[in-house]
Amino acid sequence: MSEVTEEQQSAVPDAVTMEKIVALCKRRGFIFQSSEIYGGLASTYDYGHYGVLLKKNVKDEWWRAVVQERDDVVALDAAILMHPRTWEASGHLEGFTDPLVQCEGKCKKRWRADDLPESARGDDGELRCPECGGKLGEARDFNLMFETFMGPVREDAARVFLRPETAQGIFVNFKNVLQFARKKPPFGIAQVGKAFRNEITPGNFVFRTREFEQMEIEFFVPPPDAPDWHRRWMEDRLRWYAELGIRPDHVKLRAHGPDELSHYSAATSDVEYLFPMGWSELEGIANRTDFDLKQHTEFSGQKLEYVDTATGERYVPYVIEPSAGADRATLAFMVDAYDEESVAGRERTVLRLHPRLAPVKVAVLPLVSKDGMPEKARALYEELRRRLPAEYDEGGSIGKRYRRQDEIGTPWGVTIDGQTKEDDTVTLRDRDSLEQVRVPIAGLGDELVGRLERAWVSPKLG
Ligand code: GAP
Repeated sequence: MSEVTEEQQSAVPDAVTMEKIVALCKRRGFIFQSSEIYGGLASTYDYGHYGVLLKKNVKDEWWRAVVQERDDVVALDAAILMHPRTWEASGHLEGFTDPLVQCEGKCKKRWRADDLPESARGDDGELRCPECGGKLGEARDFNLMFETFMGPVREDAARVFLRPETAQGIFVNFKNVLQFARKKPPFGIAQVGKAFRNEITPGNFVFRTREFEQMEIEFFVPPPDAPDWHRRWMEDRLRWYAELGIRPDHVKLRAHGPDELSHYSAATSDVEYLFPMGWSELEGIANRTDFDLKQHTEFSGQKLEYVDTATGERYVPYVIEPSAGADRATLAFMVDAYDEESVAGRERTVLRLHPRLAPVKVAVLPLVSKDGMPEKARALYEELRRRLPAEYDEGGSIGKRYRRQDEIGTPWGVTIDGQTKEDDTVTLRDRDSLEQVRVPIAGLGDELVGRLERAWVSPKLG
């Protein structure tokens, strides 16, 4: 994670801090601490109603971009538990480690040796415990995979692992997909699913947790074409974040240096976002070469290669891997959307989310709970919700109800008032501009669906 430099400082959002995001998530039921009634389980989180809907929209947009709108990527949903040999072949059993150091002083805390803050270095150049200043022990490799046992009797059971990446489920299915999807390189396999890592230092809310969701593509290409496809995927993925409203000066690509590359990678670039704690990885885009297919061929005895039936040509494809985190992306979209402003002397907090990502697209609100307004509003809500996610709310003052919708990022609000009974019109309020226009009920559904399909630019860009 890199610190914010002076020239990047201008791009730091002034209103948003991680504390504010955490507070909003709790206040509006997006994300809670897991097992809260037992005091919580460190760095694990549960998603509530709006959080589920927001993250689902992020994943749906990803599926739309990488599968629905392309004809060279197919979907897969592999099991979390895999044959233990998988992890020998992939190199995870031996090499998926972080260097761990333990404080030998008072606090006995454990730290990642390669991620100690600068303040840990004393005047003598020696590393000291950032918590208590105690001496730090020798670094030892700590494997990040969670292990468990398959079978009723532990002694005889097979040791299996919770997958630390979804990618291996794709590699071991390469042959199946090649056969049944009738694809040839260049083609890709996309998967969304949970991954687990026993991180030494999780933190920054859902940025780094021990259980998280990945959105991964393994894109198989003829080896000479790999650099070109790597470049194309970097452009595609950057465009995806921009089209969903992330401000261009808050996202960038950063190429890994040679000492940073994973064991399987010939080249990797990270898509980084300017989170409140600094530029940090959102997604890794790697050229994984033929490492994985060759390893699984060796360990399974099954040939994982492409054979062109017309020419007889056979080769092991190279793999370009855009690998994103669904939780990190959800967090980045929230951070980017968070805004505070003063309207007519009153403070409002608003999530300026892209309408396609917003958990609720339209709120239907009767101005008051009488004079037939709730009945009329309820009927309109029931009509609208068949076409797009809608919410009906009649409790409390209209101002309070709007503030609630602003905080969950609802782009449009419809108010049924006294005039509605006379001419079947309602007011349509825009979350960002706060403009209110009078529109007929007839055609309102078409109007909103049309707005949802339009290109959108963050109003934070001015
Ligand atoms: N298959 C390649 C792979 O797993 P990675 O860079 O280790 O690469 C890919 O992970 C993405 O998964 C990251 O860019 C991040 O978005 C997400 N991710 C990784 N570790 C995570 C964690 N502990 N908590 C939340 N998201 C994580």
